[in-house]
Formats: sequence, C-alpha cells, structure tokens
Amino acid sequence: MKKVILRLFALSLCLPLCACGGQAADHSPEPTRSGAADVPFTDVPADADYAEAVAWCHEKGILKGISDTTFEPDTSLSRAMLVTALYRAAGEPAVSGAPGFTDTRAGTWYSNAVVWANQQGVVRGYGNGLFGTDDPVSVEQMEVILARYTGKEQEWVGDPTKAQAAVRAQVAVALMAALKAETPGPEVTPEPAPEGGRVLVAYFSNTNNTKGVAEKIAACFDHADLYQIVPEVPYTAADLNYNTDCRANREQNDPEARPAISGSVEDWEDYDVVFLGYPIWWGVPPKIMQTFMESYDFGGKTVIPFCTSGSSGYNDRAVQELAGDDVTWLTGRRFSGGAGQEAVESWVDSLGLEF
Ligand SMILES: Cc1cc2nc3c(=O)[nH]c(=O)nc-3n(C[C@H](O)[C@H](O)[C@H](O)COP(=O)(O)O)c2cc1C
Repeated sequence: MKKVILRLFALSLCLPLCACGGQAADHSPEPTRSGAADVPFTDVPADADYAEAVAWCHEKGILKGISDTTFEPDTSLSRAMLVTALYRAAGEPAVSGAPGFTDTRAGTWYSNAVVWANQQGVVRGYGNGLFGTDDPVSVEQMEVILARYTGKEQEWVGDPTKAQAAVRAQVAVALMAALKAETPGPEVTPEPAPEGGRVLVAYFSNTNNTKGVAEKIAACFDHADLYQIVPEVPYTAADLNYNTDCRANREQNDPEARPAISGSVEDWEDYDVVFLGYPIWWGVPPKIMQTFMESYDFGGKTVIPFCTSGSSGYNDRAVQELAGDDVTWLTGRRFSGGAGQEAVESWVDSLGLEF
C-alpha cells in the first residue's frame, strides 16, 4: 500500500513507550533536572539542540527514557522501537493478523506495532521476509519510515547493512518534526476577498466530524448554504474500517475509483465562494471528492478546502488539479473533529472574505 496512514489519534493519551526493550527502570531518587524544564533526564543538557524534542516526545509518551533518569541520546534505537513509538503516537489502534515477518515474535512488546505498521505500509521490511526487529534503525530508514507515516512517501534507496545508525537524540528530533507538524494547519495567507458573493459549504462526512466543521463555517456568514455530498451507496461501518481491506481503502488505492454521488447542488452557478470539506483518508481526500470536482464547473469561483482527520495534516491532493485554471483556490485548513466555533471563526476571518 502506497499511501500512509497518518493517525496520531489521542496523542496525549498515549502510554509511555518503554524505549529500553526490556531494561528495568531505575528507581533511584528524583534526579536533578538538567534539561529543559520538563525533561527529567540527567544526560540531556538544557542547551542541547535536541532537548526540546526529547521533552516533547517524553511528554507525549512517544519515546521515554532508557531509565527514569537517563535518555541516552547518543545510543541507537532498534527498528522495533521506532515502529513502537509511531504506534503509540497513533493511539495504539487495535490490530489483527500476523506480523508478516519471520523475525518478529507474537506477544512481545513490539508485535502489535509491527503488525500495524506493516499493514499500514509504514514499514515493508527488507524484502526477504525479515523486518530487522533488533537492528538499529539507520538515519535513512528512519527518514523513509517517517515519510511514509506522514504521507510524504519516498523510495528507499539505501543499503540497510551500511547505513549509519540513528541515535536516540536524532530520532526524537525527527519524531517531533514529523508528528508535531501534523497538528496545526498551515498558515493561510489572506487573499483578496470576493465581494457580495454567495457562499456554499459543500462537505462529505460519514461520522459527522466534517459536518460539524461545515456547520460552523456556515454559521460564520449571514447566509451560507450547506450541501452534503451523499454517496449513492452509503458507507457502512465495515466500509470504513480502515484496518481491513475495506471499501474505503480499496477506493483510495484505485486511481480509477469515482464513487457516485446522489443528487446535485441546486443553482451551482450562483455561488461565488465554495468551501469544500472532507475527511482525510490515508493522508488525502476521499475519492468521492474527485467525483464532486468532476461534476461541476469551478470557473470564476473561489474555493476554500477544509478537512478533518485524526491528526494528519491538510491535504488537497488530486482535488485542486480538477478545479481547472479559472479558479481562485485558497490553501485550506485541517481541523480536528471537535473543533470549536471560535477556532473555525478565527480561520474564516483570516481568509479576508468580505460579505
Ligand atoms: C478509510 C479511512 C482512512 C482514514 N485515514 C486517515 C488518515 O490518513 N489520517 C488521519 O489522521 N485520519 C484518518 N482517518 C480518520 C478520519 O480522517 C477522521 O476520523 C475524520 O474526522 C472523519 O470525518 P467524518 O466524521 O466527517 O467522516 C481515516 C478514516 C477512514 C475511514
């Protein structure tokens, strides 16, 4: 699977990762804190350029120390540990099935993480049935794994036996860079506002997260119309169970997939501004959004996408290019499912639309 799952659900609920692969915790008295205020590791200097990242990973429970008091920033981390860190960050979703590798054992501290990462395409192993469970993760491997996790797929070109091992400080920095970036939406540059236009908020939503944001966007205007993109064949819970070979996954992997939409927007030509909402599926908009784009002429309109996700960032891939050239396409914004009216309103304000 080429697309990468980007779920960092419930980051703050993640349990601490035992990064020591079985080493006993040190129960010595509370250490003097040498790092940033919330880094409880005596071997992480306050002025180290990786201190903030260690603190962040520790606070989120993604990467803990080797002991209660030491982080060992200069030692390597196994491939199983890196995958476990990502699995924790993803909220430890339930998994089923076999690890898919001959060198991983079931029932171990890392086994669910490896099953999950393999099924989501975050790791693929060495191609000979081996995952390299205990091998130190190299810098190149780490970069590829994180790129897949964050949806910025790149091809592995290195040699795992030769690549330089990443040290734990590097891993913390890379994890923070990859995962923290997923949280806030990108900066939106206000663009000249269309005046006196009619606003349509069109959205696709199955579990009402995007619907909630769409309604909040509509509430920002004196008059905006809501339009729900309804699939001709509704998605059942099983269709959306992304841990399986479900309909949604199959569609996302099928370049030709264009799920049919039931009904259409009335008086489409009257709208000047179209907010376009969708959930993120495998890092990108669901295929039905491409159906929607291909169904209407966006010429002369201002289009502003928005999306919701477990944690993945904003993405309008494959949708924007279908809008044609004669469109004002603003960079949109990703919201969490529980986004409040205030957050939505402040984003809408930042767009500089004037009605
Ligand atoms: C098939 C599928 C794939 C998903 N992929 C991602 C993903 O890559 N990243 C993410 O953060 N959330 C992902 N999610 C979670 C949804 O983006 C998230 O729950 C969204 O808010 C759902 O919106 P809705 O309630 O409007 O349908 C996925 C959900 C489904 C069903």
